[in-house]
Amino acid sequence: MNLLDMIMRVPIPEPWGEGEKIPWNDPDFSERMLKEHLSQSHDAASRRFEKIDRQVAWIHSHVLGETPTRILDLGCGPGLYTSRLARLGHICVGIDFSPASVAYAKTQVEQASLACTYIHEDIRQADYGTGYGLAMLIFGEFNVFRPEVAEAILRKAHHALSENGCLLLEPHTFNIVQTLGEAASSWYSTASGLFSAHPHLCLEENFWDAERAVTTTRYFIIDATTGVVTRHAASMQAYTDEDYRALLADCGFSDVTFFPSLTGSMVEDTYGLFVIMARK
Ligand SMILES: C[S@@+](CC[C@H](N)C(=O)[O-])C[C@H]1O[C@@H](n2cnc3c(N)ncnc32)[C@H](O)[C@@H]1O
Repeated sequence: MNLLDMIMRVPIPEPWGEGEKIPWNDPDFSERMLKEHLSQSHDAASRRFEKIDRQVAWIHSHVLGETPTRILDLGCGPGLYTSRLARLGHICVGIDFSPASVAYAKTQVEQASLACTYIHEDIRQADYGTGYGLAMLIFGEFNVFRPEVAEAILRKAHHALSENGCLLLEPHTFNIVQTLGEAASSWYSTASGLFSAHPHLCLEENFWDAERAVTTTRYFIIDATTGVVTRHAASMQAYTDEDYRALLADCGFSDVTFFPSLTGSMVEDTYGLFVIMARK
């Protein structure tokens, strides 16, 4: 793309029409993103370790009753949850399509001889296996999938669980998805950033499709040296609490319970996320 293409862009993007999500699976992007996952100065890609420790303690005690089980982590990133859960006696499988995250996760568990297996695959196509006591998809990624894909992921997770196994979802609230879509356009310049290691401008614009309850965010990355423009886009489906309940029931889940956070309690920095637990 060049600047003229950008200026002549379609004013309002079709949800998911200009991209499924930010390029987690691009090798260079994933290397840069891994640094953000591991950063202890913010919670942007993964939470800081002290928060993850508290969330893992809640999952182990409250969700799993301190009983060792097999755990499936969909979109596991660098394995920050699975490695901790394995230390508590669980056997974990993580699936993620970020090459750098999966490589990091594998190295960590090899060094510590933990019972974790990591699969470098897209969770839309991956075979999840069966026999899990817990399947989780956390930190908001659920909403980024097209609704029909999100539903297919839930159905596959249901199939992967043992009888009475538990699903742990951490999706976005309806309100935060709408708020993100209604946010003003913005931009920044940087010598090196998440979207490019070279000097660039990043222009961001947001759209809220009220009829479909979908937010779309576009990013135009303008390379300072060449002027080449790269576009990324991601959309997020908003669901009401009733939508989540109906969807889970449709996919075969019961005993649906909502929690304010992954520590079970009201905390300040939920980032518009909350937790749904459901049983097979
Ligand atoms: C916000 S990060 C959360 C990572 C991890 N759950 C955590 O909280 O530390 C979302 C993760 O989902 C992964 N992801 C997104 N879409 C995916 C897909 N279609 N297949 C596999 N992994 C995916 C990304 O690569 C990324 O690691």
